[in-house]
Amino acid sequence: MRRVVCPGSFDPVTNGHLDVIERVSQIADEVVVAVLINKSKSGLFSTEERIDLLREATAELSNVTVEGFHGLLVDFCKARDIPVIVKGLRAVSDFDYELQMGQMNHSLAGVETLFMPTNPLYSFLSSSLVKDVAMYGGDVSGLVPEAVLRRLKDKLGG
Ligand code: PNS
Repeated sequence: MRRVVCPGSFDPVTNGHLDVIERVSQIADEVVVAVLINKSKSGLFSTEERIDLLREATAELSNVTVEGFHGLLVDFCKARDIPVIVKGLRAVSDFDYELQMGQMNHSLAGVETLFMPTNPLYSFLSSSLVKDVAMYGGDVSGLVPEAVLRRLKDKLGG
């Protein structure tokens, strides 16, 4: 059984995240999308909203589940017997920090990290940019799933 985790903040999930999750779901037997519960940092969407949006957006992918986690990612992995973390890389600028985290997670608990290059269509895309553009009335359709688009409109108006 090849079980992997795709972790992140997902505030909110974008089409870039979904592209990686979908492609990983074709390689792994089971994909757990793990949403960081960060009590000290409030986002635009609550953890429950992020999880609901991800569940809706991945509903068609039968081997993908979505869960919240707090504390260390490697503890979440150990508790669920997940040996591999998969992270999307948009550009070289992502690599430095992702490499550091991958090395730290391996030294902490022997959990491996695999990097998947994101689709270049989404290499400029981030949750923060989506929120920024949407906040000032820009068009983010095509960058996020329908459900997120609706919730952004509810929250930010327009
Ligand atoms: O979407 P993000 O913000 O890039 O995701 C970062 C995330 C959630 C994967 C990372 O911050 C994380 O794993 N946080 C959990 C705490 C932890 O394990 N920290 C040590 C990382 S080496």
